[in-house]
Amino acid sequence: MAHIKNKQILIGISGGIAAYKSVELVRILVRNGARVKVCMTRSACEFITPLTLQAVSGNRVHTELLDPDAEAAMGHIELARWADLILLAPATANFMAKLAHGIADDLLSSICLATAAPVHLAPAMNRLMWANQATQANYKLLQTRGFVIHGPAEGEQACGETGAGRMLEAQQLADLLAASLAEKNTAIAGKTVLITAGPTREAIDPVRFISNRSSGKMGYAVAKAAKAAGAEVILLSGPVALESPAGVKRYLVESAKEMHQKALQLARQADIFIATAAVSDYSPAHVYEQKIKKSTDTLTLQLHYNPDILFDVSHAYPDLFCVGFAAETQDLLKHAEAKLQRKKLDMIVANPVGKNKGFEKDTNQLEILWQGGHLSLPENTKEKLAIDLIQTISRVLYSE
Ligand code: PMT
Repeated sequence: MAHIKNKQILIGISGGIAAYKSVELVRILVRNGARVKVCMTRSACEFITPLTLQAVSGNRVHTELLDPDAEAAMGHIELARWADLILLAPATANFMAKLAHGIADDLLSSICLATAAPVHLAPAMNRLMWANQATQANYKLLQTRGFVIHGPAEGEQACGETGAGRMLEAQQLADLLAASLAEKNTAIAGKTVLITAGPTREAIDPVRFISNRSSGKMGYAVAKAAKAAGAEVILLSGPVALESPAGVKRYLVESAKEMHQKALQLARQADIFIATAAVSDYSPAHVYEQKIKKSTDTLTLQLHYNPDILFDVSHAYPDLFCVGFAAETQDLLKHAEAKLQRKKLDMIVANPVGKNKGFEKDTNQLEILWQGGHLSLPENTKEKLAIDLIQTISRVLYSE
């Protein structure tokens, strides 16, 4: 976490039970050499005392917008200018709504409106509040405006329910901040990165298709991490339920053939190609024009092999730095190594799949292989792994 040292980080705490995790977060940041100041909303002070945060940060905690002790009574401007980065942890549904609509009725929301520093959010709330259309609309709006959102995670909640809405753990948040503060130094900055993501759908008839369980989460996290590292990012995505990350140029396709055609065209302008998509290996040889009727007991489909996008791109553009993914249920490294050679890749990222692993989940586990190198990344959020992958690509590129 060397990139955190001497950085000025403002932790904004709004009123949720996850506020208790922010004490540990501040401790980790301070231990790693960051200069930390804390700003709390009134309701945050109901969950945890400013005195606790003062003790762990070593600085007076800020709570009031109109504070005669602050420099020229303009505390929000002073703190907004001071911060290299602001992290709102926890960010409640109410606080996200205020941010999305530019409301500045307390010190923390005023700082967020007045700052030029990157603002990160770690949402924390009940699962139904997170799923609520208003919160989801605010979340998407904040993303498109460049706010960096970490989580929330899924799991058991303080209210006794289970679902998405848990704030990420303190160490995970500290790692994500460290990575984002380091990112701009990478060799990726200024490069054009083409990323495929999600599944493809192979039509059987107008209403049916063959596909797989890919949610696009891994590929979209890689796109987000590459963008944060300063790259121009082109995301070529199959059908997923995810919003395009802010600042990323996204093309949506459906079938493997469409993805193949578009990838070959877009790769012309790219420096790096990362193929996270789970492309269907086969598609029906015949697509029925009308919906197939249940007229017989069995239905036989003949499948044809789809073009291999990664293979064709790496062979058509020998100077492109090509990174493949390998989803394997057994002999992970052996199969990944074979794909690295056969598809003529610079790097392959192997992940174990099946048995509730890899596909659809928020977490993953990666083995990154390249000529003369191997890095094992244990289970973590796809967001964190994507940041580590981008840094690894950057290091390998830099050393070439
Ligand atoms: O989307 P998520 O739910 O987050 O799940 C993430 C993931 C498990 C899908 C992802 O991490 C992953 O492993 N993606 C690659 C899955 C895969 O299809 O692997 P593969 O071993 O079949 O293919 C090897 C490589 O060739 C991949 O880079 C793939 O994109 C590429 N390929 C495969 C077939 C094909 N016709 N064209 C290709 O480009």
